Amino acid sequence: MAFTFKKQIFGFMDLLRFKKLVPNRRKMLAEGSSAPLPKSYRVNETAHILHPGYQNAALVQIEQNTADTKTYTFETDKPFYFRAGQYLTLGCKIGNSEVSRPYAISSAPQEALKKRVSLTVKKSGFFSGYLFDHAKTGDVFALGDPSGDFCYEPIKDAKQIVAIAGGSGITPFYSMAQAVTAGTDEYTLTIFYGAKTEDEIIFKKELDALVSDKIKVIYVLSDEEKEGYEHGFIGAELLRKYVSGDYTVMMCGPAAMYAFAEKELASLNIPLRRIKKEANCVGMRDAEKKLYTLTVHIGFDTYTIPADSRETILVAMERAGLKVPSKCRAGGCGFCHSKLLSGKFSIAGADKRRLADAKFGYLHPCCSYPDSDMELIVPKA
Ligand code: FES
Repeated sequence: MAFTFKKQIFGFMDLLRFKKLVPNRRKMLAEGSSAPLPKSYRVNETAHILHPGYQNAALVQIEQNTADTKTYTFETDKPFYFRAGQYLTLGCKIGNSEVSRPYAISSAPQEALKKRVSLTVKKSGFFSGYLFDHAKTGDVFALGDPSGDFCYEPIKDAKQIVAIAGGSGITPFYSMAQAVTAGTDEYTLTIFYGAKTEDEIIFKKELDALVSDKIKVIYVLSDEEKEGYEHGFIGAELLRKYVSGDYTVMMCGPAAMYAFAEKELASLNIPLRRIKKEANCVGMRDAEKKLYTLTVHIGFDTYTIPADSRETILVAMERAGLKVPSKCRAGGCGFCHSKLLSGKFSIAGADKRRLADAKFGYLHPCCSYPDSDMELIVPKA
């Protein structure tokens, strides 16, 4: 009975509240400001300032690091924000082709807020070769938003990062070392840096200057015996010698280094979630040269272009001067995601598409090679 009584009281109160609902709402509307709503909000404006999208970047400095590596410093139109470890897409027109390529950022995050950013480039391939041989200060390039998740994640990662770098794979770690030194990132960094010889080490002077209680650098030479260096390849034995406790491993370098390091890390029982690997751009495949025809629909336009079986579909479209979207060029970001209408293709390495994409016939042209004539719908850049 008591329960029924309470229920009746509350039911009565609710009815009263309900009766007052409309007059209360009217009263509040009458008392409200008649000023028009703001066209934009501070939080959106700040986000837009920090992530301005594609912008112009003037090349202001070129520095030769090693025989086949240079660092290019740009002044951007607008300041922007990035996380140490991310990459930028740099693009320009070469002849009739619209070309772009992702490059790891070597400068510190705080520099980008002052409209300066540096990218370190190893000479290889069409666009890097162009930069190496033809780019000069004063040239203006298109620079995309910072992308990639090869970054420190405070919730997921240990407080200690063990970096394994090979060759120009040191680039994101140099940016991280600067971020840790400046206090923008809170972790300790032990860098194992593998190179064939001392001459091939990039940023040696700069890295040595950053060594502190938070940053350690161990240089490992594979083809040269020299005092003050470790020798051979970066493996479990070296990690045991220099690091202990809980750590996250981040790797950036050539595929052969990943294959070796992965086997070695298995013997250390590091959980897979604590091992991160930066994806490499997909290059040419080792296959017999065949020529195919691609029919490409972009918006209301249709193009018929040739495609070399050894090059990715993305490269074929760029060579033909089509303006097509790309960022990571490694199948990871989904930016080039296109719809296959007909034809066959092979994927370089692991298939990183979502299950639904594979099922409904979508592909990533950046990491797919043509195996027949093809027809596809590509989004506008
Ligand atoms: S450019 Fe990133 S998936 Fe193709």
